[in-house]
Amino acid sequence: MDRLDRDVRLGEVFTPAAPIDRLQLFAGREAQRRAVLDAVLQRGRHVAIFGERGVGKTSLASVLHEYLEGLGQSILAPRVNCDDGDDYAAIWRKAFDALRFIEQRRGIGFAPPLEESVRSATSLISGDGPITPHTVRMLLEQLSARQTLVIVVDEFDRVAGRLGTQMADTIKMLSDQSVPATLVLVGVGESVSALIAQHESVERALAQVLMPRMSLWELQQIVDGGLDVVGLRADPIVRDRIAALSQGLPHYTHLITLAAARHANDRAADLVETEDLAAGVRSAVSHAQETITTTHHRAVMSARSDSLYRQVALACALAQCDERGYFTAGAVRRPLAAVMGRPYEIGSFAKHLNEFCADGRGPILEKIGARRNYRYRFRNPLLPPYIVMSGITQGLISDDDAAGIQSSLD
Ligand SMILES: Nc1ncnc2c1ncn2[C@@H]1O[C@H](COP(=O)(O)OP(=O)(O)OP(=O)(O)O)[C@@H](O)[C@H]1O
Ligand SMILES: [Mg+2]
Repeated sequence: MDRLDRDVRLGEVFTPAAPIDRLQLFAGREAQRRAVLDAVLQRGRHVAIFGERGVGKTSLASVLHEYLEGLGQSILAPRVNCDDGDDYAAIWRKAFDALRFIEQRRGIGFAPPLEESVRSATSLISGDGPITPHTVRMLLEQLSARQTLVIVVDEFDRVAGRLGTQMADTIKMLSDQSVPATLVLVGVGESVSALIAQHESVERALAQVLMPRMSLWELQQIVDGGLDVVGLRADPIVRDRIAALSQGLPHYTHLITLAAARHANDRAADLVETEDLAAGVRSAVSHAQETITTTHHRAVMSARSDSLYRQVALACALAQCDERGYFTAGAVRRPLAAVMGRPYEIGSFAKHLNEFCADGRGPILEKIGARRNYRYRFRNPLLPPYIVMSGITQGLISDDDAAGIQSSLD
C-alpha cells in the first residue's frame, strides 16, 4: 500500500466522529453483543441499550445486522434517530420509510414473468390515519413474515420523557402477541429508566444492556486491529498509552491513533512510535470538539498566573474514580502532587472544586453526597481525557507521569 492510499485508508478505519458499522472494525463487547443477540433471537424479547455518552452504543446496534447475517439470517435492521421534537408517529414514519422490501408481482398476460420492485413499508400505511401502537404491531407482523426485523431507535433519551410510556406499550403489545420483530431502544442514561419510565411493566420482555466504558484491553484491540488493516503496527508502549489516555472512551482511541498513524505514515515508517504518539496527542487536542475546548477554557481561565484552576482540573481528570465516574477530594491529592511537584492539602483546592460545580466556571463537575463527604464527577465524560492531553501538550505533566497515574487506575 503506498503512502497516499494508506493515509486515505486510515481515515476509513479510524472514525472518531462516526459509529462503527462493520464487524471487522468492531472490537470487544462480547458480553453485550451476546445479550443483544440473545434477545433478538428470542421471540417476544426486546432490548434497551444504555450507558454514558460516547461509549459505543450506536456502534453495537449498527453491527448487529452483519452479525445476524453471519448466522445465516435474512435480516432488515433499519436505524432511526430521534430528534427533539419527534412524536410517536414521526419516529415510526422514519422507521417504516427505512424498512424497504422487495415485492414480487406477476405481470399481465399469458405466462407473465415475475416482476420485482422495491417498496418502503410506508406504502402499507393507509392514508393519513394516526400511527398508534396497534398500527405498528399490525405492520410489523405483516413485514416480519418475510424477514427477521430489528428496528433500532437511537437517541431515544431525547424523547423518552414524552414517549417512554407509549414505547413501553408497544413493546408489551409486540411481546404479548409474539410478533417476530425486535425493538432496540438506544440512548444515553445511567439506568434503563432513562429510556422507559415504568420499565417494571415490561421487565420480562426487555433485555437491559448496560454499555460500560471499554476496558484497556478492548481499546488496545481497536489500536492493533485498525492498524493491522492498513499494514501498520504500534509500539506496545504507544498502544498502551493511547488506551490509557482514552479513559474507556473509544472516540479518543480513534482520534489519537488516526493522527499518530498518519504521522508515522508521513515519515514512511511501519511502526507507530512515541514521537508519533506525541504528534497524535497534539493533534487530538487541536481537533477536539469545540464544546469541549470552550468548556475547559471557561473552567480554568484566570487573570492571575498563579491560580491553580488549570492544575486542579487536570488533577481531577487524573483522579481515581469509581465505576460510575465519581471521585473524592482526597483522590485529587495524589495527581495534584504529581502536577505541582509537592503535596497539597484538600483545604487548598476545596474552593476550586466548589467553583467547578457552579455556574461561573461551568459547571464542569457535579457533586453528590453530604458535606465533608462529597463525591464529584465530570458532567461530560469526554472532558477529562481532553484535559489530560492538553495538560501534556502544555507541559503541566509529562506523558510518563500521566501514564503512570492512569495505568494504576484501571
Ligand atoms: N466496539 C468498538 N470498536 C471500535 N470502535 C468503537 C467501538 N465502539 C465504539 N467505537 C468508536 O467510538 C466512537 C463512539 O461510538 P458510538 O458513536 O457508537 O458511541 P455512542 O455511545 O453511540 O455515543 P453517543 O452517546 O454520543 O451517541 C466512534 O468513533 C466509534 O467508531
Ligand atoms: Mg450514539
